[in-house]
Amino acid sequence: MRRFCSILLSVAMIFCMAGCTGIRTAESSAGKAYVIGFSQVGSESDWRVANTRSMMATFEDDPEYELIMENARQQQENQFAAVRKFILEGVDFIIIAPTVEEGWETVLTEIHEAGIPVIIMDRSVAVDDEALYLTNIGSDFLRQGNLAVEWLEEEIPEDTQIKILHLQGTIGATAQIQRTKALEDAVAKHANWEISSQLYGDFTEAKAYEVMTAYLRENKDIDVLYSENDNMTFGAMRALEEAGITYGNGGQVKIITFDATREALQYCHDGKINLCVECNPLFGPRVKELIENYRNGIPIPKHVYVDESAYTTQNITQEFVDSREY
Ligand code: AHR
Repeated sequence: MRRFCSILLSVAMIFCMAGCTGIRTAESSAGKAYVIGFSQVGSESDWRVANTRSMMATFEDDPEYELIMENARQQQENQFAAVRKFILEGVDFIIIAPTVEEGWETVLTEIHEAGIPVIIMDRSVAVDDEALYLTNIGSDFLRQGNLAVEWLEEEIPEDTQIKILHLQGTIGATAQIQRTKALEDAVAKHANWEISSQLYGDFTEAKAYEVMTAYLRENKDIDVLYSENDNMTFGAMRALEEAGITYGNGGQVKIITFDATREALQYCHDGKINLCVECNPLFGPRVKELIENYRNGIPIPKHVYVDESAYTTQNITQEFVDSREY
């Protein structure tokens, strides 16, 4: 509940920032030189809040730009509605952070026909015609999953049988698809690895806590928790504690998490999370650079991946944790 309240507070602050600094909602978008419509997934995680903040902070002090953000509350239909509103308003540019990969063909075609350039940010879209968007900037989620799997390969001797509990994010989102693929491919290669269950946590702490609590009533035999984002991990940690199951360095359950937000890194530093795989949300400056290149006629690549690493207790310091921006 405490963490849920803190995400709500952050989201409220972001909307207050929007009201107070000239980053406008769609209703008040007159008069600026270059208007960008931004359809954001939601505010489901600390990662997402940091991503929204990065986007808003990048454009808020630049009089040349207006950023209109619409929060889709994790519903793809809300994204379609937002995008159609942007088209009607005649924005100059559209940025979409897609909830899921499938289902974008129609609305991207509408944007294309309206002659508005589009950047797909964070996750990807599955469309046959890549000309429907300018570029896709985001994480290499498969690489993130492979970093986790490689760490686990080093941790677990081949003659040791392990049961992996898999907490999945929003089904159909690139972050879920690729992180799941890395794990499932690795399990297929290791006879001693078993996925005991796949639980749906929707990238939120509350959902993960709920499904973990229910699961742990019947099952306590877990060696590894592979959790597809930090907020689900926080919910799972609370459920494990309440079930009397130890975790982290020296505990029963090894925890692998994705995002590497400051709070997760602190747990990692303190030995409560074994591995944090980084997912960088700070896209604002990179997106702006891509837009400026586009405006100046500079060719931009079709896919732009950001650099990311993985952290354990052994390779982070308190200074590193404290300096984390998100
Ligand atoms: O698409 C990025 C994922 O979405 C992050 O891992 C997660 O925290 C967010 O909700």
